[in-house]
Amino acid sequence: MDGAAMMIKKNEEDIRKMVKVAIFGYGTVGSGVFEVLRRNSAVIQNKIEDEIQVKYVLDLREFDEDPVRDVLVHDINIILDDPEVAIVCETMGGEHPAYDFTRQALERGKSVCTSNKAVVEKFGPELLQIAKAHNCSYLFEASVGGGIPIIRPLRTSLAQEEVQSITGILNGTTNYILTKMENEGLAFDDVLKRAQEKGYAEKNPDADILGHDAGRKIAILTSLAYGKNVDFSDITTEGITAITDQDFAYAKRLGATIKLFARSMKKKDKYYAIVAPFLVYPENPLYAVNGVYNAILVNCNMGGDTMYYGKGAGKLATASAVVADVLDCARHLGKNLAIKWDSEKLEISPIDGAVRKFFVRAAGADEARIRDVFGDVELIDDVVVGERGFITSEMTEAEYREKAAKLENIIGMIRVD
Ligand code: HSE
Repeated sequence: MDGAAMMIKKNEEDIRKMVKVAIFGYGTVGSGVFEVLRRNSAVIQNKIEDEIQVKYVLDLREFDEDPVRDVLVHDINIILDDPEVAIVCETMGGEHPAYDFTRQALERGKSVCTSNKAVVEKFGPELLQIAKAHNCSYLFEASVGGGIPIIRPLRTSLAQEEVQSITGILNGTTNYILTKMENEGLAFDDVLKRAQEKGYAEKNPDADILGHDAGRKIAILTSLAYGKNVDFSDITTEGITAITDQDFAYAKRLGATIKLFARSMKKKDKYYAIVAPFLVYPENPLYAVNGVYNAILVNCNMGGDTMYYGKGAGKLATASAVVADVLDCARHLGKNLAIKWDSEKLEISPIDGAVRKFFVRAAGADEARIRDVFGDVELIDDVVVGERGFITSEMTEAEYREKAAKLENIIGMIRVD
Protein backbone atom coordinates (compact mmCIF):
# COMPACT_ATOMS: atom_id res chain seq x y z
CA MET A 1 0.00 0.00 0.00
CA ASP A 2 1.50 3.38 -0.95
CA GLY A 3 1.46 6.42 1.36
CA ALA A 4 -1.69 7.98 -0.10
CA ALA A 5 -3.62 4.73 0.09
CA MET A 6 -2.51 4.28 3.70
CA MET A 7 -3.72 7.80 4.51
CA ILE A 8 -7.12 7.07 2.99
CA LYS A 9 -7.39 3.80 4.93
CA LYS A 10 -6.39 5.58 8.14
CA ASN A 11 -9.04 8.25 7.55
CA GLU A 12 -11.71 5.59 6.94
CA GLU A 13 -10.80 3.98 10.26
CA ASP A 14 -11.03 7.34 12.01
CA ILE A 15 -14.47 7.96 10.53
CA ARG A 16 -15.72 4.49 11.46
CA LYS A 17 -17.78 4.67 14.62
CA MET A 18 -17.53 2.27 17.51
CA VAL A 19 -21.10 1.55 18.62
CA LYS A 20 -21.30 0.24 22.17
CA VAL A 21 -23.98 -2.26 23.06
CA ALA A 22 -25.21 -3.85 26.29
CA ILE A 23 -27.11 -7.12 26.63
CA PHE A 24 -29.69 -7.57 29.40
CA GLY A 25 -29.80 -11.30 30.25
CA TYR A 26 -27.28 -13.99 29.29
CA GLY A 27 -29.71 -16.85 28.78
CA THR A 28 -30.31 -18.69 25.53
CA VAL A 29 -31.06 -15.66 23.35
CA GLY A 30 -28.71 -13.24 25.15
CA SER A 31 -25.73 -15.57 24.79
CA GLY A 32 -26.79 -16.07 21.16
CA VAL A 33 -26.66 -12.29 20.59
CA PHE A 34 -23.16 -12.23 22.11
CA GLU A 35 -22.13 -15.08 19.82
CA VAL A 36 -23.63 -13.61 16.63
CA LEU A 37 -21.95 -10.25 17.26
CA ARG A 38 -18.61 -11.96 17.98
CA ARG A 39 -18.60 -14.55 15.19
CA ASN A 40 -20.00 -12.25 12.52
CA SER A 41 -18.15 -9.07 13.52
CA ALA A 42 -16.27 -8.84 10.18
CA VAL A 43 -19.49 -9.38 8.19
CA ILE A 44 -21.30 -6.76 10.26
CA GLN A 45 -18.48 -4.24 9.98
CA ASN A 46 -18.46 -4.73 6.24
CA LYS A 47 -22.20 -4.12 6.01
CA ILE A 48 -22.62 -1.10 8.24
CA GLU A 49 -19.09 0.32 8.26
CA ASP A 50 -19.27 0.76 12.02
CA GLU A 51 -17.96 -1.54 14.66
CA ILE A 52 -20.40 -2.96 17.17
CA GLN A 53 -18.83 -3.73 20.50
CA VAL A 54 -20.52 -5.42 23.46
CA LYS A 55 -19.45 -3.29 26.40
CA TYR A 56 -21.59 -4.94 29.07
CA VAL A 57 -23.70 -8.02 29.67
CA LEU A 58 -26.10 -7.80 32.60
CA ASP A 59 -26.91 -10.99 34.49
CA LEU A 60 -27.18 -11.95 38.14
CA ARG A 61 -25.18 -15.12 37.58
CA GLU A 62 -21.41 -15.63 37.20
CA PHE A 63 -19.95 -17.20 34.04
CA ASP A 64 -16.35 -17.88 35.03
CA GLU A 65 -15.56 -20.16 32.10
CA ASP A 66 -17.21 -18.01 29.41
CA PRO A 67 -15.65 -15.09 27.46
CA VAL A 68 -18.60 -13.02 28.69
CA ARG A 69 -16.92 -12.80 32.13
CA ASP A 70 -14.84 -9.81 30.86
CA VAL A 71 -17.92 -7.68 30.27
CA LEU A 72 -20.31 -9.14 32.85
CA VAL A 73 -21.98 -6.74 35.30
CA HIS A 74 -24.65 -7.30 37.94
CA ASP A 75 -25.84 -3.73 38.38
CA ILE A 76 -28.05 -2.18 35.70
CA ASN A 77 -27.05 1.34 36.76
CA ILE A 78 -23.54 0.79 35.39
CA ILE A 79 -25.14 0.45 31.96
CA LEU A 80 -27.78 3.13 32.38
CA ASP A 81 -25.19 5.64 33.61
CA ASP A 82 -22.73 4.97 30.80
CA PRO A 83 -23.39 7.49 27.99
CA GLU A 84 -21.29 5.40 25.61
CA VAL A 85 -23.91 2.63 25.55
CA ALA A 86 -26.21 3.51 22.66
CA ILE A 87 -28.09 0.24 22.22
CA VAL A 88 -29.42 -2.36 24.62
CA CYS A 89 -30.54 -5.90 23.73
CA GLU A 90 -33.27 -7.00 26.12
CA THR A 91 -33.18 -10.78 26.11
CA MET A 92 -34.32 -11.43 29.67
CA GLY A 93 -37.80 -12.76 28.95
CA GLY A 94 -40.80 -12.35 31.25
CA GLU A 95 -42.61 -9.12 32.03
CA HIS A 96 -40.67 -7.87 35.03
CA PRO A 97 -38.07 -6.56 35.44
CA ALA A 98 -37.63 -6.66 31.65
CA TYR A 99 -40.29 -3.97 31.10
CA ASP A 100 -38.87 -1.73 33.84
CA PHE A 101 -35.29 -2.05 32.55
CA THR A 102 -36.44 -1.37 28.98
CA ARG A 103 -38.26 1.74 30.08
CA GLN A 104 -35.26 3.05 31.99
CA ALA A 105 -32.92 2.45 29.05
CA LEU A 106 -35.24 4.22 26.61
CA GLU A 107 -35.65 7.15 29.00
CA ARG A 108 -31.85 7.54 28.87
CA GLY A 109 -32.01 7.67 25.07
CA LYS A 110 -30.67 4.16 24.55
CA SER A 111 -32.38 2.17 21.81
CA VAL A 112 -33.71 -1.23 22.87
CA CYS A 113 -33.86 -4.33 20.67
CA THR A 114 -35.79 -7.22 22.14
CA SER A 115 -36.94 -10.79 21.67
CA ASN A 116 -39.38 -10.45 24.56
CA LYS A 117 -42.88 -11.15 23.20
CA ALA A 118 -44.55 -10.78 26.60
CA VAL A 119 -43.29 -7.20 27.04
CA VAL A 120 -43.91 -6.23 23.41
CA GLU A 121 -47.47 -7.53 23.44
CA LYS A 122 -48.41 -5.88 26.73
CA PHE A 123 -46.43 -2.64 26.64
CA GLY A 124 -45.59 -2.13 22.93
CA PRO A 125 -47.45 1.17 22.29
CA GLU A 126 -46.22 2.72 25.55
CA LEU A 127 -42.57 1.78 24.98
CA LEU A 128 -42.71 3.00 21.38
CA GLN A 129 -43.95 6.37 22.65
CA ILE A 130 -41.14 6.59 25.19
CA ALA A 131 -38.58 5.75 22.49
CA LYS A 132 -40.02 8.47 20.26
CA ALA A 133 -39.88 11.05 23.04
CA HIS A 134 -36.20 10.27 23.64
CA ASN A 135 -35.03 10.09 20.01
CA CYS A 136 -34.17 6.44 20.17
CA SER A 137 -35.88 3.26 18.95
CA TYR A 138 -37.70 0.24 20.29
CA LEU A 139 -37.37 -2.68 17.87
CA PHE A 140 -38.66 -6.22 18.30
CA GLU A 141 -38.11 -8.29 15.16
CA ALA A 142 -37.25 -11.38 17.25
CA SER A 143 -40.46 -11.27 19.30
CA VAL A 144 -42.57 -12.95 16.59
CA GLY A 145 -41.40 -15.82 14.42
CA GLY A 146 -37.89 -16.01 15.96
CA GLY A 147 -35.45 -15.68 13.08
CA ILE A 148 -38.09 -14.96 10.41
CA PRO A 149 -38.11 -11.39 9.13
CA ILE A 150 -41.75 -10.35 9.50
CA ILE A 151 -41.89 -7.21 11.68
CA ARG A 152 -39.53 -5.33 9.35
CA PRO A 153 -41.41 -6.35 6.18
CA LEU A 154 -44.68 -5.18 7.77
CA ARG A 155 -43.04 -1.92 8.89
CA THR A 156 -41.17 -1.11 5.68
CA SER A 157 -41.63 -3.34 2.61
CA LEU A 158 -45.42 -3.52 3.00
CA ALA A 159 -45.99 -0.03 4.45
CA GLN A 160 -47.64 1.08 1.18
CA GLU A 161 -50.07 -1.84 1.23
CA GLU A 162 -53.43 -2.45 2.80
CA VAL A 163 -52.99 -5.74 4.59
CA GLN A 164 -56.06 -7.88 3.93
CA SER A 165 -55.05 -10.91 5.94
CA ILE A 166 -52.20 -12.44 7.91
CA THR A 167 -52.14 -16.19 8.39
CA GLY A 168 -49.34 -17.66 10.43
CA ILE A 169 -48.04 -20.94 11.68
CA LEU A 170 -46.54 -19.10 14.61
CA ASN A 171 -45.83 -21.83 17.11
CA GLY A 172 -43.12 -24.41 16.54
CA THR A 173 -44.13 -26.74 19.37
CA THR A 174 -47.66 -27.29 18.06
CA ASN A 175 -46.51 -27.55 14.45
CA TYR A 176 -44.00 -30.20 15.51
CA ILE A 177 -46.73 -32.14 17.37
CA LEU A 178 -49.21 -31.95 14.48
CA THR A 179 -46.56 -32.98 11.95
CA LYS A 180 -45.59 -36.00 14.08
CA MET A 181 -49.23 -37.00 14.56
CA GLU A 182 -49.72 -36.85 10.80
CA ASN A 183 -46.55 -38.66 9.79
CA GLU A 184 -46.56 -41.36 12.46
CA GLY A 185 -50.27 -41.79 13.14
CA LEU A 186 -49.73 -41.14 16.86
CA ALA A 187 -52.11 -39.73 19.45
CA PHE A 188 -51.69 -36.16 20.74
CA ASP A 189 -50.68 -37.20 24.29
CA ASP A 190 -47.99 -39.60 23.05
CA VAL A 191 -46.41 -37.03 20.76
CA LEU A 192 -46.54 -34.34 23.44
CA LYS A 193 -44.79 -36.67 25.90
CA ARG A 194 -42.05 -37.44 23.36
CA ALA A 195 -41.67 -33.77 22.49
CA GLN A 196 -41.23 -32.96 26.19
CA GLU A 197 -38.64 -35.71 26.57
CA LYS A 198 -36.66 -34.31 23.65
CA GLY A 199 -36.93 -30.73 24.93
CA TYR A 200 -39.08 -29.56 21.99
CA ALA A 201 -42.01 -28.84 24.31
CA GLU A 202 -41.94 -27.11 27.69
CA LYS A 203 -42.61 -29.04 30.90
CA ASN A 204 -45.71 -26.88 31.19
CA PRO A 205 -46.78 -26.76 27.54
CA ASP A 206 -50.09 -24.94 28.07
CA ALA A 207 -49.12 -21.62 26.46
CA ASP A 208 -48.21 -23.49 23.29
CA ILE A 209 -50.83 -26.23 23.04
CA LEU A 210 -53.73 -23.98 24.09
CA GLY A 211 -52.82 -21.47 21.37
CA HIS A 212 -51.96 -18.57 23.69
CA ASP A 213 -48.41 -18.15 22.37
CA ALA A 214 -49.66 -17.99 18.77
CA GLY A 215 -52.44 -15.63 19.91
CA ARG A 216 -49.99 -13.15 21.42
CA LYS A 217 -47.93 -13.25 18.24
CA ILE A 218 -50.86 -12.62 15.90
CA ALA A 219 -51.98 -9.79 18.24
CA ILE A 220 -48.58 -8.11 17.70
CA LEU A 221 -48.59 -8.62 13.92
CA THR A 222 -52.17 -7.39 13.58
CA SER A 223 -51.43 -4.29 15.69
CA LEU A 224 -48.54 -3.47 13.36
CA ALA A 225 -50.55 -4.14 10.22
CA TYR A 226 -53.31 -1.71 11.21
CA GLY A 227 -51.49 0.65 13.59
CA LYS A 228 -53.85 0.18 16.53
CA ASN A 229 -53.64 -2.06 19.53
CA VAL A 230 -55.10 -5.56 19.41
CA ASP A 231 -55.93 -7.02 22.77
CA PHE A 232 -54.98 -10.70 22.85
CA SER A 233 -58.03 -11.45 24.99
CA ASP A 234 -60.30 -10.31 22.10
CA ILE A 235 -58.97 -13.10 19.89
CA THR A 236 -60.94 -16.36 19.76
CA THR A 237 -58.29 -18.89 20.72
CA GLU A 238 -58.46 -22.67 20.45
CA GLY A 239 -55.49 -24.94 20.84
CA ILE A 240 -54.71 -28.38 19.46
CA THR A 241 -55.56 -30.52 22.50
CA ALA A 242 -58.78 -31.84 20.94
CA ILE A 243 -57.10 -32.95 17.69
CA THR A 244 -56.92 -36.73 17.37
CA ASP A 245 -55.24 -39.27 15.13
CA GLN A 246 -58.74 -39.93 13.73
CA ASP A 247 -58.96 -36.31 12.58
CA PHE A 248 -55.75 -36.90 10.68
CA ALA A 249 -57.25 -40.04 9.13
CA TYR A 250 -60.04 -37.85 7.72
CA ALA A 251 -57.56 -35.21 6.62
CA LYS A 252 -55.55 -37.86 4.78
CA ARG A 253 -58.66 -39.09 2.97
CA LEU A 254 -59.33 -35.51 1.87
CA GLY A 255 -55.73 -34.98 0.72
CA ALA A 256 -55.42 -32.29 3.38
CA THR A 257 -53.60 -31.73 6.66
CA ILE A 258 -54.33 -29.97 9.96
CA LYS A 259 -52.41 -26.86 11.06
CA LEU A 260 -52.76 -24.46 13.96
CA PHE A 261 -53.38 -21.15 12.21
CA ALA A 262 -53.17 -17.74 13.81
CA ARG A 263 -55.12 -15.53 11.46
CA SER A 264 -56.37 -11.98 11.28
CA MET A 265 -58.17 -10.28 8.44
CA LYS A 266 -59.84 -7.08 7.40
CA LYS A 267 -63.13 -7.47 5.56
CA LYS A 268 -65.43 -4.58 4.72
CA ASP A 269 -63.88 -2.39 7.43
CA LYS A 270 -64.28 -5.10 10.05
CA TYR A 271 -61.41 -6.92 11.66
CA TYR A 272 -61.45 -10.59 12.64
CA ALA A 273 -58.85 -12.67 14.45
CA ILE A 274 -58.68 -16.30 15.45
CA VAL A 275 -56.24 -18.97 16.58
CA ALA A 276 -57.53 -22.46 15.84
CA PRO A 277 -56.71 -25.71 14.05
CA PHE A 278 -57.66 -25.56 10.37
CA LEU A 279 -58.03 -28.22 7.72
CA VAL A 280 -55.57 -27.09 5.07
CA TYR A 281 -55.29 -28.22 1.43
CA PRO A 282 -52.08 -28.37 -0.62
CA GLU A 283 -53.06 -25.24 -2.57
CA ASN A 284 -52.20 -23.21 0.53
CA PRO A 285 -48.42 -22.59 0.72
CA LEU A 286 -48.64 -23.07 4.50
CA TYR A 287 -49.59 -26.73 3.90
CA ALA A 288 -45.93 -27.62 3.40
CA VAL A 289 -44.64 -25.93 6.58
CA ASN A 290 -43.68 -28.82 8.82
CA GLY A 291 -42.00 -29.64 12.11
CA VAL A 292 -40.70 -26.78 14.24
CA TYR A 293 -40.68 -24.39 11.30
CA ASN A 294 -42.93 -21.32 11.26
CA ALA A 295 -44.26 -19.30 8.35
CA ILE A 296 -46.44 -16.26 7.83
CA LEU A 297 -48.52 -15.60 4.72
CA VAL A 298 -49.49 -11.96 4.26
CA ASN A 299 -52.12 -10.99 1.71
CA CYS A 300 -52.13 -7.37 0.56
CA ASN A 301 -54.47 -5.45 -1.71
CA MET A 302 -51.83 -4.50 -4.32
CA GLY A 303 -49.01 -7.03 -4.24
CA GLY A 304 -51.09 -10.07 -3.29
CA ASP A 305 -49.44 -12.82 -1.27
CA THR A 306 -45.98 -12.78 0.27
CA MET A 307 -44.73 -15.50 2.60
CA TYR A 308 -42.02 -15.53 5.25
CA TYR A 309 -40.56 -18.87 6.38
CA GLY A 310 -37.91 -20.02 8.80
CA LYS A 311 -37.01 -21.03 12.30
CA GLY A 312 -39.55 -19.61 14.73
CA ALA A 313 -37.35 -20.23 17.75
CA GLY A 314 -33.84 -21.33 18.68
CA LYS A 315 -30.77 -19.57 20.03
CA LEU A 316 -28.95 -18.32 16.94
CA ALA A 317 -32.01 -17.75 14.75
CA THR A 318 -33.68 -15.56 17.37
CA ALA A 319 -30.40 -13.85 18.28
CA SER A 320 -29.75 -13.09 14.62
CA ALA A 321 -33.07 -11.22 14.45
CA VAL A 322 -32.12 -9.20 17.55
CA VAL A 323 -28.79 -8.31 15.93
CA ALA A 324 -30.58 -7.22 12.75
CA ASP A 325 -32.39 -4.66 14.91
CA VAL A 326 -29.10 -3.62 16.53
CA LEU A 327 -27.69 -2.82 13.08
CA ASP A 328 -30.82 -0.83 12.21
CA CYS A 329 -30.39 1.20 15.41
CA ALA A 330 -26.66 1.66 14.78
CA ARG A 331 -27.41 3.09 11.34
CA HIS A 332 -29.89 5.54 12.88
CA LEU A 333 -28.23 6.66 16.11
CA GLY A 334 -29.91 9.67 17.67
CA LYS A 335 -33.06 9.10 15.59
CA ASN A 336 -36.34 7.40 16.25
CA LEU A 337 -37.28 4.57 13.89
CA ALA A 338 -41.00 5.21 13.87
CA ILE A 339 -43.36 2.27 14.26
CA LYS A 340 -47.07 3.03 14.04
CA TRP A 341 -48.77 1.15 16.88
CA ASP A 342 -51.14 3.38 18.84
CA SER A 343 -52.58 2.47 22.20
CA GLU A 344 -56.08 3.04 20.73
CA LYS A 345 -57.87 -0.28 20.60
CA LEU A 346 -58.49 -2.08 17.30
CA GLU A 347 -62.00 -3.45 17.56
CA ILE A 348 -62.00 -7.13 16.75
CA SER A 349 -65.45 -8.18 15.53
CA PRO A 350 -67.10 -11.20 17.10
CA ILE A 351 -66.11 -14.35 15.28
CA ASP A 352 -69.83 -15.05 14.64
CA GLY A 353 -69.71 -13.10 11.38
CA ALA A 354 -66.68 -14.92 9.88
CA VAL A 355 -67.63 -17.05 6.87
CA ARG A 356 -66.04 -20.43 6.05
CA LYS A 357 -66.65 -24.16 5.62
CA PHE A 358 -66.56 -26.56 8.55
CA PHE A 359 -65.40 -30.17 8.76
CA VAL A 360 -67.65 -32.03 11.19
CA ARG A 361 -67.63 -35.54 12.66
CA ALA A 362 -70.89 -36.95 14.02
CA ALA A 363 -71.54 -40.33 15.65
CA GLY A 364 -74.29 -42.49 14.22
CA ALA A 365 -75.86 -39.67 12.18
CA ASP A 366 -77.51 -40.73 8.95
CA GLU A 367 -77.11 -38.87 5.70
CA ALA A 368 -80.70 -37.62 5.58
CA ARG A 369 -80.47 -36.14 9.06
CA ILE A 370 -77.14 -34.40 8.29
CA ARG A 371 -78.57 -32.92 5.09
CA ASP A 372 -81.75 -31.97 6.87
CA VAL A 373 -79.76 -29.83 9.35
CA PHE A 374 -76.81 -28.63 7.25
CA GLY A 375 -78.22 -28.70 3.69
CA ASP A 376 -75.66 -29.38 0.98
CA VAL A 377 -72.61 -31.18 2.43
CA GLU A 378 -69.63 -33.22 1.19
CA LEU A 379 -69.91 -36.59 2.97
CA ILE A 380 -66.81 -38.53 4.00
CA ASP A 381 -67.73 -42.13 4.77
CA ASP A 382 -65.83 -45.19 6.00
CA VAL A 383 -62.96 -43.47 7.76
CA VAL A 384 -63.93 -44.26 11.36
CA VAL A 385 -66.44 -47.00 12.23
CA GLY A 386 -69.73 -45.76 13.71
CA GLU A 387 -69.47 -42.15 12.60
CA ARG A 388 -69.69 -39.89 9.56
CA GLY A 389 -67.59 -36.95 8.54
CA PHE A 390 -68.80 -34.12 6.34
CA ILE A 391 -67.80 -30.72 5.08
CA THR A 392 -70.43 -28.03 5.11
CA SER A 393 -70.97 -25.36 2.51
CA GLU A 394 -69.82 -21.84 3.42
CA MET A 395 -71.64 -20.29 6.35
CA THR A 396 -70.98 -17.91 9.22
CA GLU A 397 -69.67 -19.17 12.54
CA ALA A 398 -73.02 -18.18 14.08
CA GLU A 399 -74.94 -20.20 11.48
CA TYR A 400 -72.67 -23.18 12.08
CA ARG A 401 -73.25 -23.06 15.84
CA GLU A 402 -77.00 -22.79 15.37
CA LYS A 403 -77.09 -25.84 13.07
CA ALA A 404 -74.59 -27.84 15.13
CA ALA A 405 -76.83 -27.44 18.19
CA LYS A 406 -79.57 -29.25 16.26
CA LEU A 407 -77.47 -32.25 15.21
CA GLU A 408 -77.07 -34.82 17.94
CA ASN A 409 -73.74 -36.47 18.70
CA ILE A 410 -71.23 -34.14 17.09
CA ILE A 411 -67.79 -35.50 17.97
CA GLY A 412 -65.76 -32.57 16.74
CA MET A 413 -65.40 -29.71 14.29
CA ILE A 414 -62.37 -28.29 12.50
CA ARG A 415 -62.58 -25.12 10.43
CA VAL A 416 -61.69 -25.46 6.77
CA ASP A 417 -59.24 -23.04 5.24
N1 HSE B 1 -42.80 -21.85 22.46
C1 HSE B 1 -42.58 -21.13 21.25
C2 HSE B 1 -42.83 -22.06 20.07
C3 HSE B 1 -41.19 -20.55 21.20
O1 HSE B 1 -42.98 -23.27 20.26
O2 HSE B 1 -42.87 -21.60 18.94
C4 HSE B 1 -41.06 -19.31 20.39
O3 HSE B 1 -41.89 -18.26 20.84
